[in-house]
Amino acid sequence: MSTTRQTPPVYENILETIGRTPLVKLHKTVEGIPGTVYAKVEYFNPGHSTKDRMALKMVEDAERAGLLKPGGTIIECTSGNTGMGLALAAVVKGYKLICTLSDKQSKEKMDVLRALGAEIYVCPTNVAPDHPDSYYSVARRLNAEIPNSYFPNQYDNLSNREAHYETTGPEIWEQTEGKITHFIVGVGTGGTISGVAKYLKEKNPAIQIWGVDSYGSVFKKYHETGVFDTSEIYGYITEGIGEDILPKNVDFDLIDRFEKVTDRDGALAARELARQEGLLLGYSCGSALQGLRQLKDELPADAVSVVLFHDHGSRYVGKIYNDDWMRERGFLKETTGNLAEAVAGHKHLPLLTIQPEEPLMNAVVAMKRHSISQLPVHDGQRFVGSITESHIIQALTEEGRGMDTLVKHVMGAPFPVLPGSASVQEGIAALSKEQNALLIEWAPGKHHILSKHDLLTRIA
Ligand SMILES: Cc1ncc(COP(=O)(O)O)c(C=O)c1O
Repeated sequence: MSTTRQTPPVYENILETIGRTPLVKLHKTVEGIPGTVYAKVEYFNPGHSTKDRMALKMVEDAERAGLLKPGGTIIECTSGNTGMGLALAAVVKGYKLICTLSDKQSKEKMDVLRALGAEIYVCPTNVAPDHPDSYYSVARRLNAEIPNSYFPNQYDNLSNREAHYETTGPEIWEQTEGKITHFIVGVGTGGTISGVAKYLKEKNPAIQIWGVDSYGSVFKKYHETGVFDTSEIYGYITEGIGEDILPKNVDFDLIDRFEKVTDRDGALAARELARQEGLLLGYSCGSALQGLRQLKDELPADAVSVVLFHDHGSRYVGKIYNDDWMRERGFLKETTGNLAEAVAGHKHLPLLTIQPEEPLMNAVVAMKRHSISQLPVHDGQRFVGSITESHIIQALTEEGRGMDTLVKHVMGAPFPVLPGSASVQEGIAALSKEQNALLIEWAPGKHHILSKHDLLTRIA
């Protein structure tokens, strides 16, 4: 898989340099992972991310379809990288570009878009996608208001995944000489994973496709159960992966499994890639590597894994590469503050649960005896709900039920489950008005509970 040096080509314009990115073997950061691991380093694209590929394809497909006309305005909601690819296309082809971004995106991304002449609208992150202020809705509104404008909509525009089917997939197949066994990548719009997966599975259906998701996103649960569970949705920090919607570009049938990675583990893995491999990469690249590490026991000894790294680290220097930013979030290893540490004091005690078929009376007795305010509901296989003092009071008063009512008729949604490696801040982000507690998986299959009160005392 080595190449001889060739005279670099001369190009007509910057757009022609998109694609044909290198595959780089990983060493120290993948010690203990079976087989060989290669990185598809997408920051070699001129806009420093893989999204250049799909941005150009969306623009050219729209031109061909007559949706984008000379002098037109492109309007897109973007986490930054698609905006960058669109900006390059807009500059070279003479279009105006407006990007709507959520306020959790790094300032660097916004400044870079402005440098390329784009107009930026910053929208709040913590609103539902259909809220009029969300970055999806603002893009739609501007598209309706501005004449001769085109809204590519990277989430549902299938030119997105087609770009990766036409270019990224074939490159990976050829670069590994058809030896790839596993492809691992973060999933946002789903374009990268679905396009690459389609090409690779057509070549060899045995190739495993693993999607990396974030805590706070709906993908993993939807893939495993077919349920779009809104209780999975909460704020998180990692940029570019995970969603609170199901974009049309995600082809769930082509994805073999999803793995969730915490904000903290993704950030730490990205820092390791910089210091141990010389790869200064974006946040979601750390998540992708960490996803592979978490699944290493599933890999055969002769695996040839390819992890796609979406973008460059320059856009994250004020975040994951800034020690103060990391420390404030409890992400640095030397700081205490992960959830396993928060439950360490009561790990020796059994986790108290109640079954859905038990009467409310049993819940009340257990709460009184152990001086607790909530219980996870477990049906012997999995957590199916939760019962709190508020549920019980509401059932007895407003609903006029008796103490013999079964727990399953009164219980609320299950408590969110987070791994022990998540930070206390991530735990707090996962709580909502309705959720009183979290379940911490501190070892495989072993859970403990943390109440709102427990979490607040960790930060006060
Ligand atoms: C940094 C980063 N990582 C991962 C992704 C996810 O890629 P895709 O949208 O193709 O699923 C994106 C997409 O915007 C991104 O910008």
